[in-house]
Amino acid sequence: MIQMRKVSKSYGGAVKAVDSIDLDVRRGEIFGFLGPNGAGKTTSIKMITGILTPDSGDILVNGRDIRKEALAVKRSFGFVPDDPNIFPRLKAIEYLRFMGDIYQVPTDRRRERIQELTERFSLDEALTDRIQSYSHGMRQKLMIIGALLHDPELWILDEPMTGLDPKSAFVLKEMMRTQADSGKTVFFSTHVLDVAEKICDRVAVIDRGRILFCGSIGDMQRQFRQDGSLETMFLELVNHSETAGDPA
Ligand SMILES: Nc1ncnc2c1ncn2[C@@H]1O[C@H](COP(=O)(O)OP(=O)(O)OP(=O)(O)O)[C@@H](O)[C@H]1O
Ligand SMILES: [Mg+2]
Repeated sequence: MIQMRKVSKSYGGAVKAVDSIDLDVRRGEIFGFLGPNGAGKTTSIKMITGILTPDSGDILVNGRDIRKEALAVKRSFGFVPDDPNIFPRLKAIEYLRFMGDIYQVPTDRRRERIQELTERFSLDEALTDRIQSYSHGMRQKLMIIGALLHDPELWILDEPMTGLDPKSAFVLKEMMRTQADSGKTVFFSTHVLDVAEKICDRVAVIDRGRILFCGSIGDMQRQFRQDGSLETMFLELVNHSETAGDPA
């Protein structure tokens, strides 16, 4: 569903934020993208979604290159960015109608989806409030609803759990599972390793722009020859990479 081949990106300096990474996200899976702060997750996601252009390498989404078929590729996914602070002066319902327009969701369908999703995330009673009056978690939920309005086959979510209360996090996890079980795909970054451990079919660990591991939690345990938790193995992977990459 997503293929990255030797993709690199730097922000002008000598250090590459993303350094020749290969990644394959398969249809029908929940794929977790893990890594410490500054590892290159958001940069990778911005390249997959066409916000940033790679310095080198190729990215295909569902077999298509976003640089060549921008609209078709963008229509096929729903994207939740890491920062939910946009359009503060719009009312939530105006934002959702706007998203419905952009993604050409028919009016009846849109009404149904908005009702269903806002009820699930307990936002239905705040729809006529302005986004600026929303809490961080409420904004996050609004972004999620807006991105999923057109029922995309691929979800790309950059730290979607941030700020969500336990019930909303549960609802989102359930929705991710349903999405994957119906043959669609979820790709998300997270720092919440407990969540990743529970719901991901596979994960990739990135640090300093390089992929340190890609596979299932079971694969990781076999590689480490232990039944450790994802947290233990993650810390070991990242600590080891720091020592290896920084001999001083
Ligand atoms: N706009 C920018 N200008 C310059 N450097 C940037 C910019 N955005 C990111 N970087 C750098 O690129 C590297 C990767 O950042 P990125 O945002 O991709 O990390 P991340 O894995 O998403 O981290 P976090 O977990 O904190 O969200 C970091 O070293 C960061 O300082
Ligand atoms: Mg990030």
